[in-house]
Amino acid sequence: MRPAGRFVAAVLSELEQVAEVGMTTRDLDAHAHQMIRAAGARSVYLGYHPSFGAMPYPGVLCTSVNDAALHGLPSDQVLAGGDVVSVDFAAQVDGWVADSAVTFQLPPTTTEAQRLLATTAAALEAGIAMARVGGRMGDISAAIGKVGQDAGYGVNSDFGGHGVGRTMHEDPHVPNRGRRGTGPRLKKGLVIAVEPWFMAETEDYVIDDDGWTIRSADGSLAAHFEHTIALTEAGPLVLTARE
Ligand code: MF3
Ligand code: CO
Repeated sequence: MRPAGRFVAAVLSELEQVAEVGMTTRDLDAHAHQMIRAAGARSVYLGYHPSFGAMPYPGVLCTSVNDAALHGLPSDQVLAGGDVVSVDFAAQVDGWVADSAVTFQLPPTTTEAQRLLATTAAALEAGIAMARVGGRMGDISAAIGKVGQDAGYGVNSDFGGHGVGRTMHEDPHVPNRGRRGTGPRLKKGLVIAVEPWFMAETEDYVIDDDGWTIRSADGSLAAHFEHTIALTEAGPLVLTARE
């Protein structure tokens, strides 16, 4: 699964580099699509139609801007200075999938948004640190939820991480809140996506008329970070680590 992880990481790094004021989120999607073609990889988003989606997914990326937290559809929305942009990307390479997300802010940055981004990234690191063979899923969930809650952010556990393999969404579910020492046992060789997402001022979200885009109910900023990791005896291996 390393090649898939490396490819997904490279695409996210590139998108963060090229994203700038005046581009649309569809431009970002087109750029990622081009990289998929060039690599001979396969999109796992395009045409994806899970129970929670109103229509088959129309892009290769989720682009969620400002108060949008998850599953934002690439559109003609033009990126502006100070926008908080979450990019979520998964692809299949040689039959195996990797899934990862990053959130960044286009300049000028604000301390408020930077604190949210740093906290969500820290929750991801805290969750990964608890991904130990012999531990429990609840160890990961509790670590993620604590970082968000201690910072005063809204943590909603309706959407969370998941197993990753030949397909994107596999068992087990990886909740963003939970209790240490509870839940399924973490076994060697398990590959999961860990993906905290926090909203600055609320625990509640609303879904746009497009049936996909998840937004904070009060319009406050949201952030999302995700890595696909493999559990080994030597500790968690971050397959989607960026340079
Ligand atoms: N990659 C997202 C996740 O982290 C899900 C994307 S839904 C899709 O689970 F429809 F866009 F594929
Ligand atoms: Co995921």
